Amino acid sequence: MMINESKLKLLKYKAPGSFEESRFEKLHNVIADNPNEGCIAIAHYIADLIISKQKENKNCVLGLATGSSPINVYKELVRLHLEEGLSFNNVITFNLDEYYPISKKDIQSYFYFMHENLFNHVDIKKENINIPDGEVDIKNLRSTCVAYEKKIEKLGGVDLQILGIGRTGHIGFNEPGSHLNSQTRTITLDQVTRFDAASSFKGIDNVPRKAITMGIQTILNAKKIILMAWGSNKAEIIQKAIEGKITDKIPTTYLQHHHNTTLVLDPQAASELIRIKTPWLVTSCEWDENNRSKAISWLCKKTGKSVLKLTDEDFNQNGMSDLLALHGPSYDLNIEMFNRLQHTITGWPGGKPNADDTNRPERKNPDKKRVIIFSPHPDDDVISMGGTFDRLVSQGHEVHVAYQTSGNIAVSDEDALKYIEVGIDVIGDKEKKIIKELKASIESDDSKKPASRLVCKLKGSIRKGESYGATRYIGIPDSQVHFMNLPFYETGTIKKNPISNKDIEKTLKLIETIKPHQIYAAGDLADPHGTHKVCLDIIFEALKQLKTKKFMNDCWVWLYRGAWHEWEIHEIEMAVPMSPDQVLRKRKAIFYHQSQKDGVMFQGNDNREFWVRAEERNAETANKYKKMGLADYAAMEAFKRYYF
Ligand code: F6R
Repeated sequence: MMINESKLKLLKYKAPGSFEESRFEKLHNVIADNPNEGCIAIAHYIADLIISKQKENKNCVLGLATGSSPINVYKELVRLHLEEGLSFNNVITFNLDEYYPISKKDIQSYFYFMHENLFNHVDIKKENINIPDGEVDIKNLRSTCVAYEKKIEKLGGVDLQILGIGRTGHIGFNEPGSHLNSQTRTITLDQVTRFDAASSFKGIDNVPRKAITMGIQTILNAKKIILMAWGSNKAEIIQKAIEGKITDKIPTTYLQHHHNTTLVLDPQAASELIRIKTPWLVTSCEWDENNRSKAISWLCKKTGKSVLKLTDEDFNQNGMSDLLALHGPSYDLNIEMFNRLQHTITGWPGGKPNADDTNRPERKNPDKKRVIIFSPHPDDDVISMGGTFDRLVSQGHEVHVAYQTSGNIAVSDEDALKYIEVGIDVIGDKEKKIIKELKASIESDDSKKPASRLVCKLKGSIRKGESYGATRYIGIPDSQVHFMNLPFYETGTIKKNPISNKDIEKTLKLIETIKPHQIYAAGDLADPHGTHKVCLDIIFEALKQLKTKKFMNDCWVWLYRGAWHEWEIHEIEMAVPMSPDQVLRKRKAIFYHQSQKDGVMFQGNDNREFWVRAEERNAETANKYKKMGLADYAAMEAFKRYYF
């Protein structure tokens, strides 16, 4: 079997804090290029351990986690089993936790998750699988927890414990307040944890309030611990876990007591670490253009000053004396940064005809451009770049919108029923089959069953109608609105299919037909398993395949951020300002997406409605520019260029 040695080396434990760069860090961590790289490295580490135990004729005791983070670890383990002969016959597993109460058949149970993602596809012996029992009678709960603990002990303890991390800083379901000496027990779930689980349970009210979890001590008893975290949603808690003091308020900090723990992160999850965010505070850093603007925007924030008011002293007192020595004095650095920021601002996102474009983000030629706005769901276009969309159209460019997925899963049964009842009242349908189906689905809470094709079609068509409302309001003909219905999305359930050639083909064809000068796409990297990231991967692959075509020489790609995050100031390469009236027009365009208003199915961890998020985010970007000493706009949409 091919074990990737360089990946194994990556995970080799090194005492934290022993290098200058990691002097603020109390947990050993490594940063993989992306979540998939990290997952493959972890899977190979596990496989190597299983094999070395096999050679010694010993069992390999694994502590396993569920959730979105380890899915690709399990996928790679399954691949190693199917394609490279990795056997699990000496493996004994203990899962960290389970909701309580919950049926094993429930699609949200961790029992179901583990079988679906790993156990059903490898040769592990059924009797070697241990998962806390969510079905156990309440009076036997305590004794089963004690028995779970004893069983681990009897087998000589866990050889390798895999962990994810919750936004509360929980490991397993050890929520804030958990004791260092805690063992397997029941626990009341934190509201934040329940909120994060709400979308897979079709609403927070369906998320169990309790769970069974291994304790902190149970986890710390493992011989080796690997914790993984992907995406910017985890950045804040990861920073606290690695650089903070040990506290029961953030149970992950307890791992600082353990002397063989490695955290595997992707660049987004690591982005709040001092050595990444402000490397100049840790050691000497490479002062390329990116680091210069990153450092200066940080310095403005830290000192509360605008760019042109920063002094040599400000630089010297904040770990940037070598920057001054290399590129100073501050006057030069300030002017460079001011101009850089100034040149990102444009009211002409498609380029300004007949103007000098030397310092503009976009080319002036051709003055009428063909544009494709890729929108993962039918509404991301207006939420994330409604103002820019509007300007492109009013400035005479040929704007096409490509809705990559139908978004049908995000329409509630109640909404769908409302529409179909109206429709059937008008057209008549004696059997009312679809009404019966929707009513049955509303009454049962069985989200395991995929929605029927008819229901998917209805919900997709609701979103289609809403999208036309918005695109007609902005003023593009229906012929320039493309509903791609990418097949990876069309499962009728939350779980999606893997990307296939069909997804790439459809994307490729659209680009080839339109031959755009500009492509806008959602560069949303916050949720590595979410639809936005998948949609972006599909576009990237299509661009790779189209790269050699002549028309692609004239095609520039701009990434906007989805509903959740915004680019950092130093990352922005084009900022499109909006007047108060344009902000209102954008709001109106978002309002057309009625099924996504007033408490949507997939709210994420932010309670605000999409239009509020969009407005606050755009106002905040404008405010950041203002604070740095640039013009004072009502709002701004931000883009970063992608070079393929
Ligand atoms: C799962 C578990 C939890 C998750 C954590 C992160 O067995 O114990 O601690 O690891 O909630 O979940 P994801 O990976 O979904 O972000």
